[in-house]
Amino acid sequence: MHPDLEEVLFDEEQIKSIIQTLADRINHDYKDTECLMLVGILKGSFIFMSDLVRKLTVPVRLEFMSVSSYGSATTSSGVVRIDLDLKKPIDGKDVLIVEDIIDTGHTLKYLLESLGARKPKSLEVTTLLQKKEALKTDVTVKYVGVDIPLKFVIGYGLDYDERYRELPVIGVLRESVYKK
Ligand code: XMP
Repeated sequence: MHPDLEEVLFDEEQIKSIIQTLADRINHDYKDTECLMLVGILKGSFIFMSDLVRKLTVPVRLEFMSVSSYGSATTSSGVVRIDLDLKKPIDGKDVLIVEDIIDTGHTLKYLLESLGARKPKSLEVTTLLQKKEALKTDVTVKYVGVDIPLKFVIGYGLDYDERYRELPVIGVLRESVYKK
């Protein structure tokens, strides 16, 4: 185990199984789609996106967006800025936002408003992790991998100060790393 981890929440096998369950639901729900546009939110979702897409059997297109959410190092605020936007219109398309983690929901609310205004045929969200107790907005997330406690987690794409994204497991970061 990485020395900066307090505990491992999900190992590689557990993550695989969570993603397969999500993929089964998505494959079922979008079986008649012409094409499902997956919008991965960088950077945190890049590993989830790549593992999820390989379990999908429906036709997909991949797009990415990047957003900055202001706040302290471990919590976000309601102020969100789009750093990288979609290159093509999404009107009339089935769109699925792919998020790594939903905490307060501020980032997602902003994304849903921005993408919703572009008139997609459908707009839903999948997230690998959700801190349900932290939710401060009225966003609906149809495909939630797993609910986690109110702890700062890293690994499997998730970072603290751009570190730890490469860890194959998801774990709780030791407080001593960020409370110095
Ligand atoms: P909100 O509060 O807008 O936050 O739902 C979503 C974004 O905040 C980041 N975030 C985390 N990143 N470990 C991380 O590595 C965490 O425990 C965590 N909680 C929130 C993340 O960028 C997410 O997209």
